[in-house]
Amino acid sequence: MSQSNENNIWTRERVEKYVQSTEKLINFRYNPFARQIINSIDKFGIEGIPKILDIGCGPGLLLFEIKKIFPEGKLIGVDSSEQMLKIAKEKAEQNNIDELELMKGLAEDIPLPNDDIEVVVCLNCLHDFKDAQQTIEQVYRVLRSGGIFILKDKNGDYPRWKMRLHFIPLILRIGLKRARAYLRSEPFWLEPHEVYNWMDQLGFQEISVSNKPDYVIIGKK
Ligand SMILES: C[S@@+](CC[C@H](N)C(=O)[O-])C[C@H]1O[C@@H](n2cnc3c(N)ncnc32)[C@H](O)[C@@H]1O
Repeated sequence: MSQSNENNIWTRERVEKYVQSTEKLINFRYNPFARQIINSIDKFGIEGIPKILDIGCGPGLLLFEIKKIFPEGKLIGVDSSEQMLKIAKEKAEQNNIDELELMKGLAEDIPLPNDDIEVVVCLNCLHDFKDAQQTIEQVYRVLRSGGIFILKDKNGDYPRWKMRLHFIPLILRIGLKRARAYLRSEPFWLEPHEVYNWMDQLGFQEISVSNKPDYVIIGKK
């Protein structure tokens, strides 16, 4: 079970600061992951107009990047923070993105029916959720058969000295204060093999894991 103590304090001010620093990472973090998601949709042969659900969508930056590359996708964002969703809505309006459904809800109890979604994505937040394993169970529940889950998060199994090398460019990108906040979440990072095992036990197929500072796991229901 993972639990970060920072979850429940997303004030308007904190969310604005979060957006300011993460918007600097659009080309480094959000756009490449959006591209990886669209490539996976092609690779797994998901046909028609897929529903793409972002769990812990925050201010919606990943969803906006997906929309730019794949305008036909039907996008849904779920997050437990009203302030995050408010900013996501404002940003969607500023960018004329109207076909975006934003829902308040818990990753551990996704407010959607069974077998409803073709693609579930999750970026940088599984380790933040109160119950990561229950979240994966919920992802499996809402996915349609043949649907895919694509998760990217900090790697709790990556050698710490190597992680420190990535920390230096991060300071240059987002500043020392936010980079320190990033490192404070380190005790909560999950090990990819743990997530792999939960997915395997549930029946996910064709699971692949990339063992980098940010690991990516992809699996098919
Ligand atoms: C570090 S932010 C990441 C946001 C976004 N995925 C991104 O990469 O910009 C973590 C997000 O998870 C949300 N969150 C935390 N616990 C949650 C839970 N149990 N269920 C749903 N969302 C949760 C927070 O409100 C926050 O928006």
